[in-house]
Amino acid sequence: MNQEEMKKAVAEAALDYVEAGTVIGIGTGTTANYFIDALAGIKHKIEGTVASSEASAERLRSHGIEVLDLNMVNEVSVYVDGADEATKHLHLIKGGGGALTREKIVAAASRKFVCIADESKLVDILGQFPLPIEVIPMARSYVARELVKLGGEPVLREGFITDNGNIILDVHGLQIMEPTKLEAQLNNIAGVVTNGIFAIRPADVLLLGTETGVKTLT
Ligand code: 5RP
Repeated sequence: MNQEEMKKAVAEAALDYVEAGTVIGIGTGTTANYFIDALAGIKHKIEGTVASSEASAERLRSHGIEVLDLNMVNEVSVYVDGADEATKHLHLIKGGGGALTREKIVAAASRKFVCIADESKLVDILGQFPLPIEVIPMARSYVARELVKLGGEPVLREGFITDNGNIILDVHGLQIMEPTKLEAQLNNIAGVVTNGIFAIRPADVLLLGTETGVKTLT
């Protein structure tokens, strides 16, 4: 299997976690897109979806899948999304597509978080992938200086504005040994909306696409 086939295989495997008659949380990115396409085949079985980005909402609607406002929903049964890095402890880095804040909100509001990724995303220690941080525009320089004090090298994602109207700093050079601690510490910097470490609310299941098939890590 090549990388695209692995992404498609994990996306299809995630259909097993879809509960009939419930609202499904939908992630963002190429792997989540395969999940949206697969979900279209069973759209009549679910109540609707909550999307983590405008791009995913648009793709869902193009398949005739209902997209609901999270504020109008009592419970999201499962959230399915990709990742930029994942550990065997199911801690993640997300935000390569810039949708990290809405992704974190939908993940937090969901009973179960199923992460879908090809095996290239599995790492021993998070941080090789530059850590995305969503920042209120007026705080850009202040937050960047604070990140340098923590040993990171922040780089502005040029020409990119999030769905929430903010900027992204991609932080290089971090070796994330204590993901829950760093996640909380970064979120405490004034001007940070959220950061791409998903450890305080990690995934509950990681479906990993490998050359020999889909592996399930819990
Ligand atoms: C978007 C994300 C994505 O889940 C992450 O970037 C992985 O994307 P892909 O499935 O395209 O590799 O966090 O903000």
